[in-house]
Amino acid sequence: MSDTSFDVVIIGGGPGGYVAAIRAAQLGLKTACIEKRGALGGTCLNVGCIPSKALLTASHHYHACAHEMGSFGIKVGKVEMDVAGMMGHKDKVVSDNTKGIEFLFKKNKVTYIVGAGAITAPGQIEVTAKDGAKSTVAAKHIVIATGSDVTPLPGVEIDEEVIISSTGALALPKTPKHMVVIGGGVIGLELGTVWGRLGAKVTVVEFLDRILPFNDGEVSKQMQRLLAKQGMAFKLGTKVTGIAKSGKKATVTVEPAAGGNAETIEADCVLVAIGRKPYTDGLGLDKVGVALDKRGFVQIDGHFRTNVPGIYAIGDVVGGAMLAHKAEEEGVALAEILAGQHGHVNYDAIPAVVYTWPEVASVGKTEEQLKAEGIAYKAGKFPFTANGRARSMNEVDGFVKILACAATDKVLGAHIVGPNAGDLIAEVVLAMEFGAASEDIARTCHAHPGLGEAVKEACLAVDGRPLHT
Ligand code: FAD
Ligand code: NAI
Repeated sequence: MSDTSFDVVIIGGGPGGYVAAIRAAQLGLKTACIEKRGALGGTCLNVGCIPSKALLTASHHYHACAHEMGSFGIKVGKVEMDVAGMMGHKDKVVSDNTKGIEFLFKKNKVTYIVGAGAITAPGQIEVTAKDGAKSTVAAKHIVIATGSDVTPLPGVEIDEEVIISSTGALALPKTPKHMVVIGGGVIGLELGTVWGRLGAKVTVVEFLDRILPFNDGEVSKQMQRLLAKQGMAFKLGTKVTGIAKSGKKATVTVEPAAGGNAETIEADCVLVAIGRKPYTDGLGLDKVGVALDKRGFVQIDGHFRTNVPGIYAIGDVVGGAMLAHKAEEEGVALAEILAGQHGHVNYDAIPAVVYTWPEVASVGKTEEQLKAEGIAYKAGKFPFTANGRARSMNEVDGFVKILACAATDKVLGAHIVGPNAGDLIAEVVLAMEFGAASEDIARTCHAHPGLGEAVKEACLAVDGRPLHT
């Protein structure tokens, strides 16, 4: 690193940080990004979104070949799973993508600094390289984009072998016989699905009385039913009181969350997936006086400013939806603000997708939220059983549900369980960005036969006039 003075220095090279860096450089700001992992892309690319989707895709193909081809008239010989081969696919996808970001940094003239950053004073960062060598970087603006880390379960030590976090679940050398998943949220269901498809018995232990507690209630119920049909077992309203490890086995003790008799579950793998927490270790925030909230998230205002002038924060470390695309949007908006523009994130239109099969996708308010907020709404629902494309794919599980304002018909939320739900939601997100009414989507011509017709039909159903149910 020859030049050590920048307009913007971003600490953290995840989707928030690296995207902020690219956008800032595009806007003519002299930009550096400090990342200590040794690879760009953050949690998302290295141990999150991308490797999990690589395993979900591989296990989906395996399961389809082993169990579903007959219904299409395709005879398949003996299907065998090569877990090491699947991991090779995942590793290649990850390494290709991290190199891709390094290329984008070069292309956009972002300086990539490998090392751990610590803020020593406003405008000043100390970087510690892997070999311990220290250097100093100066910046007009400092952006904290250090992301998040696994929330530990008190009293339980994660060894990434028998008791694992999502990171261990992305690198198991063989399919466990019985995986107990603690937490029926996004990670638990996605990674439980991967290993369930490959033959593991999967038992999900969830503290609350429903899985996917942040989703619409109808979606949670439907997904529990569909995942149970796929073989996943659920222990809801249940808390883990202890895990005893003995060699390569673990005994999980659970009891009803409301109190009651304890029972034990034997497992050869326990995945702890009870949420993620902000990561600010070693950043020196206490020294410069950057305020954190009670849960450790960096506090910011509507323009990503912390309480210390010249220091900003984005992504998982500031809380809200802990999603890569939310972090990216914040990165772009902040870079534009720093360049004197008017960057903005519409938090009402951030989609969230669970990449199980069927997929779950949502945007905006759930029915429960609308009720709690006293907003009068209309709901339109359309099942994939009545969609020609879904029938031709043998993918009829699920529905599209559209929630619209009773007074204005403006779309307030959408909840989809179904094939490619994660792609279908984009149409509704765009509609919400434009402030569209459900009638606008209902009157938009959708190609036939397409899964998107189910979105149109759900919008027609808002007004009680679906054509195909
Ligand atoms: P991060 O991606 O966590 O990046 C922060 C980076 O900062 C890290 O690389 C870290 O090494 C670095 N860093 C920290 N401290 C320092 C320091 N002092 N100096 C230098 N570098 C530092 N989200 C989705 O939207 N879709 C998905 O499908 C999805 N799947 C996921 C699957 C799993 C298993 C997990 C764990 C998460 C998943 N997420 C998904 C969430 C997503 O990964 C995060 O929301 C996203 O990575 C947050 O981006 P970020 O830039 O804020 O932080
Ligand atoms: P989560 O918040 O989605 O789910 C955690 C679950 O654990 C909740 O259902 C919660 O009630 C339960 N829980 C909490 N404490 C518990 C306890 N002691 N015992 C039993 N259950 C308990 O968190 P998760 O799944 O760990 O994911 C972390 C973050 O990563 C999420 O915020 C998510 O947004 C992100 N992510 C996103 C993905 C996507 O967009 N497809 C995929 C994977 C992760």
